Amino acid sequence: MLNITISKVSLLQIDDLQKISQQTFFEAFSDSNTEEDIKHYLETSFSAQQLYSELSHKNSEFFFALHHNTPIGYLKLNYADAQTELKTENGIELERIYILKDYHGKKAGQTLLNKAKSIAITKNASFIWLGVWEHNHKAIQFYMKNGFIEFDKHIFRLGNDNQTDLMMKLLL
Ligand SMILES: CC(C)(COP(=O)(O)OP(=O)(O)OC[C@H]1O[C@@H](n2cnc3c(N)ncnc32)[C@H](O)[C@@H]1OP(=O)(O)O)[C@@H](O)C(=O)NCCC(=O)NCCS
Repeated sequence: MLNITISKVSLLQIDDLQKISQQTFFEAFSDSNTEEDIKHYLETSFSAQQLYSELSHKNSEFFFALHHNTPIGYLKLNYADAQTELKTENGIELERIYILKDYHGKKAGQTLLNKAKSIAITKNASFIWLGVWEHNHKAIQFYMKNGFIEFDKHIFRLGNDNQTDLMMKLLL
């Protein structure tokens, strides 16, 4: 098993965060979307300016999964008003969890999800929620294995394409 450590991402690490955000998104979704939509998404959602604003938000936190001090994945959590929906005080949004393709299946995702759970428990949250593309079966399996259940659906816009996300929650 890999030796994986978790560390909070600071503003000084914005370049590393941008690189891994773009690479993991591309690896996960370039096969199932048009080149134009992916390019647009990578350029806007993961621009340095956008990531700077998200990293600076007092109610969001990013964490790297590190192997030999190199980021192999990351997690983004949103609390209170930083949540993209629901915005309840007793819920925490797991907005992103992404592992580099070469490291899938080596428990990096599990290590990050365990971190999210322990933060949620420390903050006395009653649940963690997330949105996942309805055709992202691998991620859905991963979440179900961890006790998440579907409770709603919402529309996620990728470039010119409207896609359906399943909303899932884990009661703590
Ligand atoms: C989904 C993702 C985060 C899982 O991380 P991972 O590091 O590959 O998964 P882990 O090795 O930590 O697996 C943890 C558990 O989930 C299970 N699991 C992981 N992927 C699975 C899959 N595709 N199907 C079934 N079970 C799966 C594992 O079997 C493991 O269970 P075990 O402890 O009984 O062996 C990772 O595959 C990923 O980054 N995918 C692409 C990006 C993505 O889709 N992110 C989610 C966007 S909403």
